[in-house]
Amino acid sequence: MPAVVVVGAQWGDEGKGKVVDLFSGFSDQVVRYSGGANAGHTMVVQGEKLIFHLIPCGALHPNIDCVLGQGMVVNPEVLIEEIDLLNQRGLFQPSRFLLSDRAHLVMPQHLLIDELRERGKGAIGTTKRGIGPTYEDKVARRGLRVGDLLSPARFRSKLEDNLEVLKPTIVALGGEIPDIAAVFESYMKFGERLKPIIGDASRRVYSALMNGSKVLMEGAQGTMLDIDGGTYPFVTSSSTVAGSACIGAGIGPTHISEVYGVSKAYTTRVGHGPFPSELKGELAEELRERGGEYGATTGRPRRCGWLDIPALRLAVRANGLTGIALTKVDVLTGQDRIQLCVEYELDGKKLEFPPFEDLDRVRAVYQTLPGWKEPLGDCRSIDDLPQNAKKYINVIEKAVQCPVTLLGVGPDREQTIVVRFPFK
Ligand code: GDP
Ligand code: IMO
Ligand code: MG
Repeated sequence: MPAVVVVGAQWGDEGKGKVVDLFSGFSDQVVRYSGGANAGHTMVVQGEKLIFHLIPCGALHPNIDCVLGQGMVVNPEVLIEEIDLLNQRGLFQPSRFLLSDRAHLVMPQHLLIDELRERGKGAIGTTKRGIGPTYEDKVARRGLRVGDLLSPARFRSKLEDNLEVLKPTIVALGGEIPDIAAVFESYMKFGERLKPIIGDASRRVYSALMNGSKVLMEGAQGTMLDIDGGTYPFVTSSSTVAGSACIGAGIGPTHISEVYGVSKAYTTRVGHGPFPSELKGELAEELRERGGEYGATTGRPRRCGWLDIPALRLAVRANGLTGIALTKVDVLTGQDRIQLCVEYELDGKKLEFPPFEDLDRVRAVYQTLPGWKEPLGDCRSIDDLPQNAKKYINVIEKAVQCPVTLLGVGPDREQTIVVRFPFK
């Protein structure tokens, strides 16, 4: 059975957690393949809210296999906290979890460097979870990996080498070098805890695919935060697009059959960087409050704006989307008029896609559509939606040339209209 990818189609926080949790009920295995605890994925089940940063959303379904792939950067302390949370609910059985031995470890020095850099003038508005510095060490080939936790001598030697290289950076930023003995001791304890679930994740995913299991791949962050195609340098440090599901899970592209891109019915962004359809003032405040737009990881208020079609077009292209999961349509209830940023204008030219570098200079060009007043929380089929909501969805589908295959009408798992399930 082929694999299905769920990916963020905007600047993150689109509602991937909810979609993955829902589809997990129909899957055999769920795989997180990239990013780290910069992610905050929310699930609401029968009114109860849970946020995972590292554990795949899907873990709440007791029979699903949960994999953390080699493309991730893992802070073991955060992972253990999440495991404890699952344990309290009787949902942690080591046999159904696998953490890739190849995933990179977020170390105290990474957290420190991220934090210190964010105090300076080059701040990106990161989540300060050590993500950038960890991926930097990965590509510089001096990172520490999860599997190293199981070999104390090797871990110690790599830790010493790593700190030796990072020392000048930390000193230049005004920081204090973490104490090697203390870091070693705490990480060895983390290793003891995690040992039962560490292994070859790529092999586990491949076996599942070969056995005909339904494999769901959970993306983190969003297309516009992608290191290559996003709003560089205001991006995260990993590949966030669907192609990275293969690399991060350790399987080939021939296994992917469907890619669902999750997008809000409007746009949000946390952190710095251009945002052409951003709203200011009362309307932004209204969307933020109605949508509960505060970061699931950092609690920061999210910047809010109208739906950005050029960005969504890019997501369709860069991920090869076969469907759009349009979440939070309910949040738009009550607007007299809904604006849709259908293209950009730059120096008198119309643009269908985000340009290189100049996104901060473009002017958003809007199409205005009529709104609706009816609350949508109880809608369970397209037919239940008000006419103007249906029209809004149709206009989006036409503009980006991709069908809307799922609609979110509230935060709860049940508050979803699935037009087409990804596993046939
Ligand atoms: P993720 O990072 O993509 O998983 O998204 P987050 O969890 O960071 O943020 C999405 C927020 O929107 C969470 O608070 C969800 O509970 C909430 N949410 C998801 N889908 C819907 C929806 O259709 N309607 C409403 N009102 N809230 C939603
Ligand atoms: P989920 O998976 C929204 C943003 C940060 C910052 C930039 C770089 O929940 O959608 P980083 O800490 O990664 O170095 O920060 O990326 N960012 C996210 N924004 N949702 C996320 O994850 C994000 N992960 C990182 O706010 O602008
Ligand atoms: Mg999030």
